[in-house]
Amino acid sequence: MIRIRSGDTVTELAWTGENIPAARLLAQAGLYPDYPCGGQGRCGKCRVLAHGDLSPAAPEELAQLPPRELARGMRLACLARICGPDAELTLPREDGLLVETGGSLHRLEWDPWAAALGICVDIGTTTVAAYLWDLDRRCRLGVASCKNPQERFGADVVSRLDASLAGQGDALRTCIVRCLSDLAYQLCRQVGRPVSDVGGAVITGNTAMLYLLRGYDVRDIALAPFQARHLFGESVPARELGLDWGADCQVYLPPCLSAYVGADITHQWRDGPSVGRNHLLLRHGGGSRL
Ligand code: FES
Repeated sequence: MIRIRSGDTVTELAWTGENIPAARLLAQAGLYPDYPCGGQGRCGKCRVLAHGDLSPAAPEELAQLPPRELARGMRLACLARICGPDAELTLPREDGLLVETGGSLHRLEWDPWAAALGICVDIGTTTVAAYLWDLDRRCRLGVASCKNPQERFGADVVSRLDASLAGQGDALRTCIVRCLSDLAYQLCRQVGRPVSDVGGAVITGNTAMLYLLRGYDVRDIALAPFQARHLFGESVPARELGLDWGADCQVYLPPCLSAYVGADITHQWRDGPSVGRNHLLLRHGGGSRL
């Protein structure tokens, strides 16, 4: 039996006879630690304590892990393989995540929609923040946030695009749709309303995040000369995105400027200063990009 420990929870899985990476086994147990380099063995961040029937350490593990760590059983979950029925994996404890969801609104002009509830979402590469609004009373009802669960395909935009190019586009899309759906349920539950009351939404994010949400072929933004064929600035039915919100709910995807200047930036510009001629907008991204 293979045992997986995460915090106080122990999961037992039967070995199927196949030598599989520890990461795949963790996923079978519903556990998705961070895989910042997309499982390429380059970042050394997917550490897990592992003992028992395991493959010998791969050269990348020897390069990433100090001998003392290796000696106490530390391995990289993306590379270590389970080779038999007697193995145990222990995930390190996670620090709590604090998502900054504050901020201020400038020059908010109401353009009332025929909808009771509205949701606006910022899909960041690292985190996702969602706000629920009462569009009749013009007040914010709640906020919810979480890590972007696509991080298991890679921590940054480039590794996500690589994963999509490698045929994981549909998995990436399903992953973010489920996340948006969960956040909406969470927000509506807080105020005792059904998600079917959500009649309008705005979902922003960088160009890659919106491509992945739409399930578009990412080759045009992943490969030179990086000419984005889709720049959004359009409304689509929520159902078309796979979101079971109000039956007529429309989702507005704000415009991007190019493959690497996305709607997350253009949105900030709209809220920027209204006086003077020249303005400089600098954005410090969650992944420490400037
Ligand atoms: S080494 Fe980067 S995800 Fe495993």
